[in-house]
Amino acid sequence: MTSTKSNSKGVAVVTGSAQGIGRSIAIRLAGDGYDIVINDLESKKDNLEEVKNEITANFPERRVLTVFGDVSIEEDVKGLIKSAVKEFGSLNVFVANAGICKPKSLIETSSDDFESVLAVNVKGTFYSYKYAAQQMIAQGEGGRIVGASSLAGKKGLASASAYCASKFAVRGLTQCAAIELGRNGITVNAYAPGAIQTPMLAGLVESADYDEFKRSSSVGDLGTTQDVSSLVSFLVTPEARFITGQTISVDGGVFFD
Ligand SMILES: NC(=O)c1ccc[n+]([C@@H]2O[C@H](COP(=O)([O-])OP(=O)(O)OC[C@H]3O[C@@H](n4cnc5c(N)ncnc54)[C@H](O)[C@@H]3O)[C@@H](O)[C@H]2O)c1
Repeated sequence: MTSTKSNSKGVAVVTGSAQGIGRSIAIRLAGDGYDIVINDLESKKDNLEEVKNEITANFPERRVLTVFGDVSIEEDVKGLIKSAVKEFGSLNVFVANAGICKPKSLIETSSDDFESVLAVNVKGTFYSYKYAAQQMIAQGEGGRIVGASSLAGKKGLASASAYCASKFAVRGLTQCAAIELGRNGITVNAYAPGAIQTPMLAGLVESADYDEFKRSSSVGDLGTTQDVSSLVSFLVTPEARFITGQTISVDGGVFFD
């Protein structure tokens, strides 16, 4: 077992970190002082390489490990955590960010569509929370787990039945995990972004017409990936110890709890 560098704040795993929000979280947590394990599908190899290079160039003190894997496959998630611990010695933060969206109306959504969205967004989050928690409990030093919900996890949206169902489920998992893990010093929270400028959002909107999203927010703008990674950066600090089970909106004031 390799120990972490002495000036490291700990070890953080971020799933789906080849692009978008996950990429921003990985870079932010590296800047915050964590050694980082980046993960994505093997098809995103080149993007992951770029993320690794960016972290190494900006934060040469930090270690970065790349682990390919599909979060909807239980063995891949187990392997991801095993690799992190083998390489860096511990697991302190796990961000279950990976997610997919297949925008279709309810009546057009096939069983396969529904199952594939739930496989990544719900089963992937379940495996992530479960195996991250097992490792953190075994270490006995607490930890921080963060999941990816959405505005679509707080209210229904058109053409998003499977996605909404999956993101509501992430809120449920987050609340249950928080209750069960709190006494181990592990907090479990999720972010609920509104429209954030990422490849996922670009895939949802024809001709990059974001006006509708802008109009629906109080601040009249889209969010950036940094808006989300700043929140995660705080949630994983010791100061955030009394925040758990929450799914926190980062949506420019669209949905009010
Ligand atoms: N962008 C938004 O507006 C928005 C809003 C609300 C919630 N979210 C959520 O935030 C998270 C990140 O979104 P994003 O916009 O950055 O998406 P994105 O599509 O730009 O990036 C997601 C990454 O996850 C990876 N991924 C997909 N399936 C995977 C799997 N099975 N295993 C491992 N990696 C996998 C993808 O390859 C991709 O690199 C998602 O869970 C998404 O649902 C995004």
